[in-house]
Amino acid sequence: MPRSLQGAVVVVVGGSSGMGLATGRAAHAAGADVVLVARDADRLATARDELGGSTRARAVDAADDVAVESLFDELGAVDHVVSFTGNQPLGSVGDTTYELYRAALDARVWAARNLCASGAPRMAEGGSFTFCSGVSAWRPRPQRAAGAAATAGLESFARGMAVELAPIRVNTICPGAFDTPVLDRAFGERKEEALRSYLSTLPLGRLGQPDELAHAAIFLMTNSYVTGTVLHVDGGSLLI
Ligand SMILES: NC(=O)c1ccc[n+]([C@@H]2O[C@H](COP(=O)([O-])OP(=O)(O)OC[C@H]3O[C@@H](n4cnc5c(N)ncnc54)[C@H](OP(=O)(O)O)[C@@H]3O)[C@@H](O)[C@H]2O)c1
Repeated sequence: MPRSLQGAVVVVVGGSSGMGLATGRAAHAAGADVVLVARDADRLATARDELGGSTRARAVDAADDVAVESLFDELGAVDHVVSFTGNQPLGSVGDTTYELYRAALDARVWAARNLCASGAPRMAEGGSFTFCSGVSAWRPRPQRAAGAAATAGLESFARGMAVELAPIRVNTICPGAFDTPVLDRAFGERKEEALRSYLSTLPLGRLGQPDELAHAAIFLMTNSYVTGTVLHVDGGSLLI
């Protein structure tokens, strides 16, 4: 039987935008007590107001271990943590710096480490962590190796946590291209044109919608026998 999210405390890191906001909405609709976390307080407040009810918002950088510990200290018991932090920095291998690699790895792997280190001791029985990687872990593109290392590292880190923190379950979602503000930032008004050739070869032929990703996140929170997996939600991106 799937576990219910009714009354569960669900912490959504990256909950102010895109897939995280959609996951917060879905968890709220399923009766969860949602805590939205992101760095920008204004966007967070807007997201919290949209969800309403018991939804809380906390402005925290997940890559800051001290801040994450304070967050969980304040929250007390939690049931599920879902995190969407990460970036895809651009730069050829010769041009990239230690700082760029460090920032890419901090945003995904160190952030995930902080959430596990501070969240797991407060996690109720049946709890879970769900992280978000990206197709770059499997299909890297030129000048994106730092981001690819971070997404692949995150998937591997999550498998390590699935073993170390069991019976807490730890999984990763690997999204393809989703229609979120990330694409608007990357391509601006050229979004449709820039993606046309990619979408023409993609088996499902279109961008993913954030609620389709949220559906996968809810599955990983509520299925009690899935751990250490990478769930690909990508319209068939790995087939091309
Ligand atoms: N959209 C796609 O096509 C796509 C494809 C593959 C992978 N992904 C990955 O999927 C994840 C979510 O993407 P999205 O498209 O939903 O992005 P988005 O709309 O930009 O949302 C990202 C969210 O994460 C928060 N965030 C980022 N870094 C954070 C940090 N260090 N601590 C706390 N919160 C942080 C952001 O808020 P603040 O900036 O205020 O902190 C925001 O709420 C990202 O890791 C992205 O790389 C996206």
